[in-house]
Amino acid sequence: MNFVEANGAKIPALGLGTMTLMDAVCVDTVETALCVGYRHIDTAERYRNESEVGEGLRRGLRAAGIAREDVFVTTKVFHDRLAAADFERSLDQSLKKLELSWVDLLLIHWPSPNVPLKETLGVLCKAKRDKRAKHIGVANFTVPLLQDAVKLASEPLVTNQIEVHPFIDQDKVIAVCRGHGLAVTAYCPLARGKVPGNEVLARVGKTRGKSAAQVALRYLVQQGIIPIPRTPNPDHLAANLAVFDFKLSDAEMAEIGRLKQGGMRVVNPPHAPRWDN
Ligand SMILES: NC(=O)c1ccc[n+]([C@@H]2O[C@H](COP(=O)([O-])OP(=O)(O)OC[C@H]3O[C@@H](n4cnc5c(N)ncnc54)[C@H](OP(=O)(O)O)[C@@H]3O)[C@@H](O)[C@H]2O)c1
Repeated sequence: MNFVEANGAKIPALGLGTMTLMDAVCVDTVETALCVGYRHIDTAERYRNESEVGEGLRRGLRAAGIAREDVFVTTKVFHDRLAAADFERSLDQSLKKLELSWVDLLLIHWPSPNVPLKETLGVLCKAKRDKRAKHIGVANFTVPLLQDAVKLASEPLVTNQIEVHPFIDQDKVIAVCRGHGLAVTAYCPLARGKVPGNEVLARVGKTRGKSAAQVALRYLVQQGIIPIPRTPNPDHLAANLAVFDFKLSDAEMAEIGRLKQGGMRVVNPPHAPRWDN
């Protein structure tokens, strides 16, 4: 597994997304993922699957013969729990469900206009000092929010988890992440299934026996962006990890880069911040 280093964190360069994976499917998928070589699992309180992710993790550690320290586990606190006491409670519950004493990465899942950022960052940083989160970060932070967060945080933020795939232009926020030493974690890296049907990605892949999905993931990892694709399908699980054995040329990277002019955002919930900055 390759790694991305950011503000003291060493993050496996590709992870497993678990949103919508429930019950036995979630347990089995996490276990299988660890057995085929994944070392980075992404969950959230909001996904209501932390117990299953924890069970899959325990089974996977045994089956793959690896230690807890070998796997990078992320969870998140949702936007309606960002007041200090609620945040603490959410983290308590997450750790209890996961049956872990610490996560590798704790994220603010979405910013909230209702709670001062300073208050949430205070309790997020405390989670790191208390060693309940090895690293901390944010998700869905726009450029101005990220700049505020970096100023207000007393501990280093290691990533901003945002929507990134070939069809969306996130250049500005990615540049600001990099300027502050943060990694970029790409959620919906397959644009929730819209990537596989794309003609450009399929054509680029065909010349090397790779799929459109693999080309899209390679396009991200080649830029040092950390994709966390989700799939319960064992063939797709293995395929999504097989993106470190080929390289896209500069011309291919440029051609794929032009797809973002379409400006497709697949996640745009009502509580989201304004994106046009
Ligand atoms: N921080 C946030 O606010 C936020 C928001 C959204 C998501 N996330 C995180 O990001 C993760 C990924 O995003 P996502 O789950 O929304 O979408 P995604 O990973 O972009 O897309 C998942 C879809 O891609 C398909 N797929 C996966 N691998 C494939 C392959 N090799 N070939 C063809 N199709 C493939 C899956 O179908 P099959 O099941 O058939 O493989 C599934 O329908 C989430 O699970 C979650 O952990 C975070």
